[in-house]
Amino acid sequence: MTTTDPRPVTTEPTFEALAGRVDAAVTAAAGLDVPARAVAEELKAAVEDIHRSALVTVVRALRTGAPDVLYALVDDPTVHLLLSLHGIIRPDPMTLANRVLVDVRPQLQSHGGDVQLDSIADGVAYVRLEGACNGCSMSSVTLRNLVEEALVEGVPSVTGVEVLPNEPSPTLISVDSLFMGPDPEAEGWVKAAPATDLTEGALSTLSLRSDSDVVVVNVEQRLTAYRNACAHEGLPLDNAMLDVGNGTLTCPWHGFCYDATSGECLSAPGAQLEQLPLRVDAGHVWIRLGT
Ligand code: FES
Repeated sequence: MTTTDPRPVTTEPTFEALAGRVDAAVTAAAGLDVPARAVAEELKAAVEDIHRSALVTVVRALRTGAPDVLYALVDDPTVHLLLSLHGIIRPDPMTLANRVLVDVRPQLQSHGGDVQLDSIADGVAYVRLEGACNGCSMSSVTLRNLVEEALVEGVPSVTGVEVLPNEPSPTLISVDSLFMGPDPEAEGWVKAAPATDLTEGALSTLSLRSDSDVVVVNVEQRLTAYRNACAHEGLPLDNAMLDVGNGTLTCPWHGFCYDATSGECLSAPGAQLEQLPLRVDAGHVWIRLGT
């Protein structure tokens, strides 16, 4: 024989729903005039003080009477968040480090950069840097220093920061696209310049069609053509700095740094210069712009 539980089924709101209510209230309070906002903040502080006092009592009682229950409760993400918000337990280093990065992220993003925390081990925070944080320019170094200082100062157990390499991007030119048939122009090929005009160790700008500027880099006699548009904001690369020694091309506008021979952006993972098929035929450089 089965019996039916007479108690009503109660469904507790999810953590996301509770957090959503808090966010909505914070947004609403931000729109109040100054005196009303001060009242709202005092109300919030007073309620939080009551909660903190009660939580401290509960935690003390559990610590002496039922430590196993306390340990299990602390593993619950919502309870953990509540206790750490009230300063009753210290957040773990990863939580603390992510909180620190939330504070510096707006500054990084306003310069086109970002940071992701990978792990913390033996006092070292391992991070991946994105966008302008990861380039060759002075501003990149400044942004990297900002991340390091924030983590070392803001997380007591972190004494150093290591930058992990980002995943390489694939190169985009296919072998098929280099094929040239009997009527090259019909296939979108344009006779660009005598190969001898493209100086070794330099970047050359070629206007091949009214709508198509192209830059060609010559690194140790290896020619690579790109559309004349930076992957960041599409601005022209005419005055980009080609460093043959380390094989990089740095955009003059905001310092995005590229591998000169693949167009892979070293500053922003996944970003890439648009490489164009190029071949040298009878001393002439041909570039395929498309039809
Ligand atoms: S770095 Fe901004 S347009 Fe090139």
